[in-house]
Amino acid sequence: MEVKEPVHTNGESERHTKADCVERASPATTRIDDIVHERLEKLNPTLSISYFPNPLQIKTAKGAIMIEENGQENVDCINNVSHIGHCHPKFVKRIAEQASILQTNSRFLYDVLLEATNKLLKKFPPELCVVTFCNSGSEANDLAMQMAQVHTGKPGIICLDGAYHGVTRATMDISPYKWNDKYKQNPLVTVAKSPCTYRGALAGKTNSKDYAAYIPSIINENTGAFISEMMQSCAGQVIPFKDFYSELYPVLRSHGVVAIADEVQTGFGRLGSHFWAF
Ligand SMILES: Cc1ncc(COP(=O)(O)O)c(C=O)c1O
Repeated sequence: MEVKEPVHTNGESERHTKADCVERASPATTRIDDIVHERLEKLNPTLSISYFPNPLQIKTAKGAIMIEENGQENVDCINNVSHIGHCHPKFVKRIAEQASILQTNSRFLYDVLLEATNKLLKKFPPELCVVTFCNSGSEANDLAMQMAQVHTGKPGIICLDGAYHGVTRATMDISPYKWNDKYKQNPLVTVAKSPCTYRGALAGKTNSKDYAAYIPSIINENTGAFISEMMQSCAGQVIPFKDFYSELYPVLRSHGVVAIADEVQTGFGRLGSHFWAF
């Protein structure tokens, strides 16, 4: 059988069909084939398997290394959002301690909620001074979209070409990276050109001022928000033009458009020199 190369930056193989999986797993001759069979039987098939038809069966991980059942070590360059590496001992210890003391919701008063809030606030400029905790990046973006809509009274939103912002209904709408013939563009969503100087519509041409001048041409009477990663990740690690956001954000605000910065992949020090990409 032909081996397919992974095509996306997050290591997701070209989407395999159920028939591909059955072919790979039949007859079941290895433990990996058994696992593929069991997944097909019991899990939603949209949970794709990376590097199929040669998936990795991972036993454990430490720091930047993921170790397969057969002992093979792999440097993990794709495992989404493991900000401090795998199984960091300090992190593991702190989670275990807290799990043994208290896990509850924000309706009660207890110290760790405000301790975490204050630690986070120290990482923000003074004007960003209010925190909401969420379970996931998708939930955070979904909430930001709701807040923008309530604030502006407008349901429309602009996202960047190639963007990925999450798996909820609302965040799929602003994730062109995930659209296909079954999941198409919501009419309330406008796709702006990606600020990529390397490939695509603006390769080699545009500077930040031109881009900021282009944005009003795609703002319409419904547009209440603009969402982007400061450096697009799934779209191909796109580093925008110099001064891109300092030119763009004032233009958005002058049109009453709320700017949302998605820091799910780029925040918490992932870019190295700065804690947040914005
Ligand atoms: C840029 C970006 N935004 C949002 C999300 C969604 O985050 P989560 O998987 O925690 O819902 C992701 C996940 O990879 C992401 O990369």
